[in-house]
Amino acid sequence: MKILSGIQPSGKLHIGNYFGMMKTMISHMETSELYVFIVDLHALTSVHDGQRLAQSTLEVAADFLALGLDPDKCIFWVQSDVPEVCELTWVLSTLTPMGLLERCHSYKDKVAKGITASHGLFSYPVLMAADILLYQADRVPVGKDQKQHLEVARDLAQKFNNEFGETFTIPEPAISEQTAIVPGVDGQKMSKSYDNTIPIFMGGKPLKKRIMSIQTDATPVEEPKNPDTCNLYQIFKLFANQQRVSEVHDIYVNGGAAYGYIKLELFDLISDYFNQARNKKAEFLADPAELHRILKDGAEKAREKAVVTLDIVRQRVGLRY
Ligand code: ADP
Ligand code: TRP
Repeated sequence: MKILSGIQPSGKLHIGNYFGMMKTMISHMETSELYVFIVDLHALTSVHDGQRLAQSTLEVAADFLALGLDPDKCIFWVQSDVPEVCELTWVLSTLTPMGLLERCHSYKDKVAKGITASHGLFSYPVLMAADILLYQADRVPVGKDQKQHLEVARDLAQKFNNEFGETFTIPEPAISEQTAIVPGVDGQKMSKSYDNTIPIFMGGKPLKKRIMSIQTDATPVEEPKNPDTCNLYQIFKLFANQQRVSEVHDIYVNGGAAYGYIKLELFDLISDYFNQARNKKAEFLADPAELHRILKDGAEKAREKAVVTLDIVRQRVGLRY
């Protein structure tokens, strides 16, 4: 089974990225043919600062490796190092109905948040479809926000197969219900684009401040509260053990939950959870030559796979004469 997913280097990775995608991907390392990549071409839709994008790409690589991704047990690369993806994007875009893209929520949400409505942002799902189809992925672990983009990829694969003959595997989304949407400190979906994140590698005072800023309601301590609608509880649940989660659930339901104390407990839990990875990240960042070697090595392996698919596509559509 081929499992594939990508992440944008558009800012510091956060716990939504970790629980929505990274943790799942890392857990598949031993049992599947795993493809993990950093989608810098996608990040260009929101980052227009060359130095920042390049630095962020290396940081995301260090994050993934520090969190446990082993480059010997997967293919790990940077999207733009395999230029074949751009050619496939163009071919797919000639099959993409405008209406399909016009219906995409992510585009509308990003424009509403102030990101410029460029052609790249609009056609973002076509590049994502090319990412997935180029490697003939069977499963794509993502957070729920990407579900519609996966549907676009499936639609385009089917359309291509119908018009030009069986070529692409139809990819299945893999969305864990438990971590489908991790809320941000403001209660909306946590996202690098929304400035509401808890970064994985934030620590000390800034982390404490960020956790204390998680929005909660004004229900008095002794009154019962609904844990399912409380974003503090939703985040707490990701880090505490089963027993503690059920104790805290009970004090929500029966009254007695003091948000301030739960936040302090959450601060300790998050600090401990990523402590080892924090040290490893520093080691990776201290050796950029090694990071480059790992990524170039990964790109070579990815490219070997990509050219096989692209060759078939070129023949099918008539770009071979
Ligand atoms: P962001 O919205 O922060 O820019 P990306 O779009 O780069 O994040 O997403 C990378 C991966 O992390 C995707 O699989 C996405 O579904 C997942 N993800 C992002 N935010 C969340 C979240 N708040 N909850 C769960 N998964 C998320
Ligand atoms: N669009 C995805 C996101 O914002 C990132 C992404 C790009 C991706 N290409 C992909 C995810 C291919 C899975 C498969 O999160």
